[in-house]
Order: sequence, then structure tokens, then C-alpha cells
Amino acid sequence: MDTKIVRIDDSNHDEVICEAGRILRDGGLVAFPTETVYGLGGDALREDAARKIYSAKGRPSDNPLIVHIADVSDLEVLAKDIPQSAYKLAESFWPGPLTMILNKKDIVPYGTTGGLETVAIRMPSHPVAAGLIKSSGIYVAAPSANLSGRPSPTKAEHVIEDMQGRIDMIIDAGAIEIGIESTIVDLTVPVPMILRPGYITADMIRDVLGDVCYDRTVLTHSITKDKPKAPGMKYRHYAPKADLTIFEGDNAKVVARINELAGQHVRAGHRVGILSSSENAGLYTAGDVVIVGSRRDEHEIAAHLFDVLRHFDHINVDVILSEGFNEDSFGQAVMNRLIKAAGHHIEHVG
Ligand code: TXA
Ligand code: MG
Repeated sequence: MDTKIVRIDDSNHDEVICEAGRILRDGGLVAFPTETVYGLGGDALREDAARKIYSAKGRPSDNPLIVHIADVSDLEVLAKDIPQSAYKLAESFWPGPLTMILNKKDIVPYGTTGGLETVAIRMPSHPVAAGLIKSSGIYVAAPSANLSGRPSPTKAEHVIEDMQGRIDMIIDAGAIEIGIESTIVDLTVPVPMILRPGYITADMIRDVLGDVCYDRTVLTHSITKDKPKAPGMKYRHYAPKADLTIFEGDNAKVVARINELAGQHVRAGHRVGILSSSENAGLYTAGDVVIVGSRRDEHEIAAHLFDVLRHFDHINVDVILSEGFNEDSFGQAVMNRLIKAAGHHIEHVG
């Protein structure tokens, strides 16, 4: 399949959105930017479009898709038994990086929800995403536009790498601002439950709803037998090709331990990637040091994390040694993704 790749800007904005909308209405697939990561869109109410999405991503079909809407009133078209909390969250955080799980109405096919009675709904704030949903006149099912298991795409280059030849169109709007997928909160349970941490933090949700809890599997640093409630969270994810280990603890000791191991690997003829903060980058004595951002700025780390993981694949490292980062507020979502990328390999140093 020929994939049309278009860079969108002020001069062609309306034209591109219009063409992409037509493709979606015809049951085709379009990758487009959102404020979190690039999404791979198809008509959420068509089983055949959902099947195409799963096939383009190589994704297991029990892993449900998020339905993207352009107006809060669309909630009532797609979901039933909507609690007051949904409207409060929508008022505070939509359009934006928050996905709500609600009971689905019959109109939403099981092909989109992976066979579940619930549906994930999000109203994105990125102008291209919002414009596309509005102009297409449909609800847009969109997982992240990566091949299943790979890091989510935060640049059009990542989408092209994974999806060229597999979908109809890719809209290139440059680098994505947030860089980590939306927060998912389940509103079908008595106490709203975070299934996937993201830019909208537990504290922000608590400020609006008073109470929120976590799916236990989100919090643990080690592999557990518990099954996550968001089916997608159970798969190996974000994984670079090389083995990745995270080192946590006192900063000086972390740097010393990474230097010790990097030296051993280099002497053994391995190529070593070091995922470093800007503060520590000058302290490493061996390996390919790649800066993900400042230890003091989790937003900067989030924006670069998936790009850095893909970069390690491009330069073909055999092993990746990574610093651990602060897990306060948005840092929790960042570490959730890094820990998944590491397959839960974490070493605690002194
Ligand atoms: O930021 C985002 O949410 C991006 C952009 C494109 O909007 N989308 C995204 O979609 O991350 P995806 O498909 O890569 O991740 C969706 C996650 C999966 O972990 C899936 O299991 C979960 O949402 N999910 C979807 N529907 C669900 C449901 N009904 N119940 C529980 N989890 C659900
Ligand atoms: Mg994904």
C-alpha cells in the first residue's frame, strides 16, 4: 500500500484535514498528531476499520482502542450510565490528555473495545486531532501509531518507520509536546481508578473528584501475577532491542555503578548505551551517552524518552544502562514507561 506522507502547516491545513477526513469516512487509516503521542486513526464504529488498525499495528485484538471525540456531548452517544464524575473531569481536563473508561452503548462495536462492555473515550486538544475528528464527522478510534511492542511515536519519523506501507496517510506535524500517552481513569468502579498514569496526575484528579485510586499493577516496580485492568498494560511494551536496566539510589553511586558496568561491557566488545540526565552526562567514562533531559524537569524527560529508546535501536547498542528518575507527580508516568521498557529490570545501588 502506498502511504501518503504530508507535512501539515498553515498553508495546507484545511486541505490536508479534509483529505484525511475523507479517508477515515471511507474506512481507511490515517496517522495524526495528538498532544500526547501520534495516533493511528480509523472509524471507531466500523468493525472493519478496527480490524485494519490491529493488523497495521500487529496488535492482539483483545487490546481495546481509545475512541477520540471532538465534543463533550458525544459522550452520551457512545456511553451509558455516565456518572457525574465524568462531566467534572471533562470540564477540568478536556480537551486534553485524559481518557475515561465508561460502560459502552450498543453503537460501539466489540471490535473497537476488544470484546469489553466498556469503552475508552478521550477528547484530544491538539488542533490537528480536534480538526480532523470534527471535519471527518466520525468518532476516531486511535491507538498509538507504533508497531505493537515498540515505543509510542513522538515524531512523524517514528510513525514512518513503523507504519509506512501499512496505512493510507501520515500527517506530519513535527515533534509532540507531552510525549507520553494519556492518563486512563476507569469510572465504572465505585472509586475512580487510574489504569495508566499520564500527564494528568492522581493529585489533579483528586482535586476535582475528591478520591481516586490506582490499579495495583501501575504502582509496583516488579512483575506481579496481577492482571492489569487496561489490557494493553500487560504486554511487553516500549521495548528497545537491547536489554535495558535501570539503576536507582544515591546519584553518585548510580553513576559509579553505571561506569563500572559500562567499562566491563566495552572491554568485552559490547556497544553500551547510557540513558543519562543532562546533569550527569559529563560523568560517564565509557559508552554512548544519550541525554533524555534534566533530572529536575520530568516534562523534558517525557518529551524525549521514546525518541531516545528508538535512538538506541538505530545505533545498535547491545545493552542499555539507564538512570532512574524522580517519581513525583508526572514523573510517575515517566518511570512507569521506563520500567516497562526495562522489562522491570531495576538494580538498587547503595
Ligand atoms: O494518549 C493516548 O491515549 C494515545 C493517543 C493516540 O490518544 N492513545 C493510546 O492508545 O495510547 P493505545 O491503544 O496505545 O493505548 C490504549 C490503552 C491500552 O492500554 C488499552 O488496553 C486501554 O487503553 N484501554 C482501552 N479501552 C479500555 C477499556 N475499555 N478498559 C480498560 N482499558 C482500556
Ligand atoms: Mg500504545
